[in-house]
Amino acid sequence: MTQTERRIVAVAGGSGFIGRAIAHRLANDPGAAVRVLTRDPQRARARFAGDAPNIEFVAADVTQGARLGEAVAGAAAIVNAAQFDGYPIENRARGLTFQRVDYGGTVALLAAAQAAGAERFIYISGAAADERSAIGAFRWKGRAERAIRESGIEFTILRPSLVYGPEDRVVNTIARTLKFAPAMIVPGDGQQRLQPLLVDDLAACVALAAGGRGRDGIYEIGGPEAMTFDALVRLVMEITGRRRPLIHIPEAALRLAGRIAELAPGALFSREAVDFLVADNACDLAALRAEFPLTLTPAREGLKYLAAV
Ligand SMILES: NC(=O)c1ccc[n+]([C@@H]2O[C@H](COP(=O)([O-])OP(=O)(O)OC[C@H]3O[C@@H](n4cnc5c(N)ncnc54)[C@H](OP(=O)(O)O)[C@@H]3O)[C@@H](O)[C@H]2O)c1
Repeated sequence: MTQTERRIVAVAGGSGFIGRAIAHRLANDPGAAVRVLTRDPQRARARFAGDAPNIEFVAADVTQGARLGEAVAGAAAIVNAAQFDGYPIENRARGLTFQRVDYGGTVALLAAAQAAGAERFIYISGAAADERSAIGAFRWKGRAERAIRESGIEFTILRPSLVYGPEDRVVNTIARTLKFAPAMIVPGDGQQRLQPLLVDDLAACVALAAGGRGRDGIYEIGGPEAMTFDALVRLVMEITGRRRPLIHIPEAALRLAGRIAELAPGALFSREAVDFLVADNACDLAALRAEFPLTLTPAREGLKYLAAV
């Protein structure tokens, strides 16, 4: 099959943590040609550390809707895995918000996808997406989902729980912190429920969706077992061999810290970050299992790479 006979799958956010896994997975599909949409093709290519055979890098900014047409031209499927720099901490002064980049970007990509005659739109949403949520991040993901559902284009919406892998931020930060910290700080009471999902399993699901599975469906996706945040931290301790006492920081104290941090320019913490940290993210996998032939990796196995961190 020549490059021109392959179905082009354009991946917005394809240089990100989840997007890279998706691009790698699709690049191994003999029927797909992968196009990473990125604000900086040269920097994006460098993020693949030379491991980007059969992947093209095309300039595109999801907040610049008028210029997206060329970037998605000829694509049969479009994946949206873009998210603003520094998420979940918004920076309104720089336009880095869920409303502008996640929701607005989805709307702009949808319009470009339809103008280009793309067959399918795949959106990386989130387990807590809900257009009625009081929390902006979850509300704007819910609004983006509605825009997709109402667009008329074929779609698959995936709602992942916490996604981990050798290049993730959350689990790797826990593992690295354990190296030098005498105790591990846990946000809230540590009882928030998660269903950690190996990024390769999410990428495998996206590849199946790009191939036609999950048509016009919304699927929660997580690993095979739900666990509390405390249990995840204890599992990381067990795998890394670094056991530490857990110290729980009450939500009210975190919110106060978020409020104070927001006063600083270029805030590194915010109340919205607290919402993320204490949210429940467990999944109902019934619909996913019925539609996608996936083997979800148990966390103990998927996290083995941490032994080397
Ligand atoms: N990570 C998780 O645990 C998790 C869980 C549930 C849901 N999600 C969702 O999954 C999606 C991907 O998350 P991630 O963790 O992979 O994020 P990430 O690593 O921060 O990657 C996001 C990518 O978006 C691109 N981007 C940012 N602004 C853009 C713009 N204006 N136009 C075009 N591209 C832009 C960036 O690429 P360039 O710099 O190359 O432009 C970046 O590589 C997000 O919607 C997130 O909410 C993530």
